[in-house]
Amino acid sequence: MAPQSPYGTAEFDSRAFRTAMGQFCTGITVITSIDGVGDPVGFACQSFAALSLDPPLVIFCPMKTSRTWPVIAERGSFVVNVLSNRQQAVSAVFGAPGQDKFASVEWDPSPAGMPVIRNSLTWVECGVETVTDGGDHHVVIGRANVLGEVLQDKPLLFYRGGYLSTEHPRVTPVQEELENFLTWNGGDTWL
Ligand SMILES: Cc1cc2nc3c(=O)[nH]c(=O)nc-3n(C[C@H](O)[C@H](O)[C@H](O)COP(=O)(O)O)c2cc1C
Repeated sequence: MAPQSPYGTAEFDSRAFRTAMGQFCTGITVITSIDGVGDPVGFACQSFAALSLDPPLVIFCPMKTSRTWPVIAERGSFVVNVLSNRQQAVSAVFGAPGQDKFASVEWDPSPAGMPVIRNSLTWVECGVETVTDGGDHHVVIGRANVLGEVLQDKPLLFYRGGYLSTEHPRVTPVQEELENFLTWNGGDTWL
C-alpha cells in the first residue's frame, strides 16, 4: 500500500491559495492595445509567459471583469510591455482602475499602432490566436509578430504581493548572455 502523505491540505480558502501562489516570483508586464476610436488602453499583468518558440507564442490571463480585454479581443492584437524596476509607478497606474492611465506615461505607437511604453525592458507586438476559459480569467494565446529592442536594465518583479528588484544590475553584454543561454545544460526542451 502506498504510504500516506504527511503534507498538504485539501481544505483551503482563496486567501491561502493566494499566499501559496504568491511564493512564485514573476515579472510584470503592461498589456496595451487601441480601442475603436484610437484611444490607448492597457492593464498591468503578471500572468504572462513565453509559451512556444516555433511558432513564437506567448500566453496571458486577463480577469473576466477586465475593461481592457474586450478592446484587445475586438482589435485582435496587443503589445506586451515588460516593465523595468524604474517603472513601479507605471505598474501601480495600470494595475488599478483609472480614467486616463496614459496621462502619466510616455509612449510611442508600435508598427500596428499600439502603445509601446517608453523605458520598458522590451516589448512584443502580438496577434490573438486563441482564447479559452480559465475560471475567473480568460487564457489568451498570442503570436509574436514584432519584437522591440532590449534595454540593459533590471526587471520589476512581483513577489508575495509586493514589488521587488534583483540586487545587482546585469552588466553582462547581450552576446555573452545569449551564449550562456545557448550553452545552458539544463536540457533542450525549454524555450
Ligand atoms: C503587479 C500586478 C499584476 C497584475 N496581474 C494581473 C493579471 O495577470 N491579470 C489580470 O487580469 N489583472 C492583473 N492585475 C490587475 C489589473 O491590472 C487591474 O485589475 C486593472 O485595474 C485592470 O484594468 P482594466 O479593467 O482596465 O483591464 C495585476 C495588477 C498588478 C498591480
